[in-house]
Amino acid sequence: EVYDAKGKYVFPGFIDEHVHSRDPGLTHKEDFTHLTQSAAAGGVTTVIEMPNTVPPVSDEASFYSKVEHLSPKAFVDFALLGMVLGDLNTKKLQAMADAGVVGFKLFWGYYLNPKTLELVYNPSKGDDVLPPPDDGQIFDAFHTIGQTGKAVCIHAENSAVISRMVEIEKNKGKTDYLSFLSSRPSFTEALTIQTGITIANAAGAHLHILHIAAGEGVDLVAEARNKGMKVTGETCPHYLTLTDQDYPRAGVNMKIYPPIREASHQDRLWQGVQQGHIQAIGSDHAPHTEEEKVGDIWNVPAGATGVQTIVPVMLDSVAKGKITLNQLASLLSEAPARIWGLYGKKGVIQPNADADFTIVDMNATMTIRKDDLLSKSQVTPYDGLTMKGAPVASFIRGRQVMSDGKLVGERIGEFVKPVGKSEYKW
Ligand code: DOR
Ligand code: ZN
Ligand code: ZN
Repeated sequence: EVYDAKGKYVFPGFIDEHVHSRDPGLTHKEDFTHLTQSAAAGGVTTVIEMPNTVPPVSDEASFYSKVEHLSPKAFVDFALLGMVLGDLNTKKLQAMADAGVVGFKLFWGYYLNPKTLELVYNPSKGDDVLPPPDDGQIFDAFHTIGQTGKAVCIHAENSAVISRMVEIEKNKGKTDYLSFLSSRPSFTEALTIQTGITIANAAGAHLHILHIAAGEGVDLVAEARNKGMKVTGETCPHYLTLTDQDYPRAGVNMKIYPPIREASHQDRLWQGVQQGHIQAIGSDHAPHTEEEKVGDIWNVPAGATGVQTIVPVMLDSVAKGKITLNQLASLLSEAPARIWGLYGKKGVIQPNADADFTIVDMNATMTIRKDDLLSKSQVTPYDGLTMKGAPVASFIRGRQVMSDGKLVGERIGEFVKPVGKSEYKW
């Protein structure tokens, strides 16, 4: 049977390099079946799964058990990241690398529940938690990771400063959206990005800065790259397409960390993307239940779905002239593949690659409706917004998995291992 792609564009299969499936451990929020169905429906053919499940991927055994647990549920291909826990697992990172993680993730400044190894963002006094790894432990971990040839990515915010600033704002009795935003000033991102770059450079590791939301972050990554340092950056569709002006419309559905900021930051993020200082775009698909997202914006958990909307939202940015089709192919396929050692197998259409591709119709328009999201959670800041351009078909290893936003064919997603070293320049 012939696919009529006349007037449409064929992209190398889109890779969402930043998803949280919550599986295992937090499956009331999301699970891998729903996550990968949502990905397939939205034109994504490979996802890179964050390690902060319960238990996390923190050693060889938890890596293998997660591969086994997720594989039967996968509607798209997937790769796994391992978690950096400081002294608790630095000696285990090499074995995880040998086993097949694509790289590592450090949740900078997060505390840890010593029994479940669940991350705790802002513990109350008296909680039984382990403190975040200190700079020395981070150096040791990054040094080990440097020797594996893989990249380490970070959630870059200085939570110690933020939690104190939030207390001050709360004590003033502020409960509106904008005071929430202003309680997380952009320098708290810059602080951690600067520290991360300095430590990673000294340790010889490739550092990938996730979800850059502040203009300062773009400048720091650009400066480091200009000096030849092994640094790359990611931003997300919500930082590129929403601003603080959207809080009255989207409310808690756009409470995401780092926060969505003012237009001046968005302008600098776009410049960073256009000039190549930021190489990758990931969705940070971070579902919470609708019940959890109801209430005072100070207390609801941060995060929204994104894996099904990342492609249409970015196509709309192409339609608006922000980036070209080729830039999008790089941001959402080639760059993530190169950063995570998958390039050649993924991220490109060529004979030795998996035949993964997504076909896009730039003349189509689609309205994002929360009810159409296949994720367990339908929390999205894009409900009701219309996008120009839509993914209309996708193929994984030559077999069609999506047609006009509907899943077709069998469940064929597979676990993928890296095929090469992480790249920061190409
Ligand atoms: O908003 C967020 N939610 N940002 C993060 O970095 C973590 C994520 C989550 O896991 O819920
Ligand atoms: Zn994060
Ligand atoms: Zn995340």
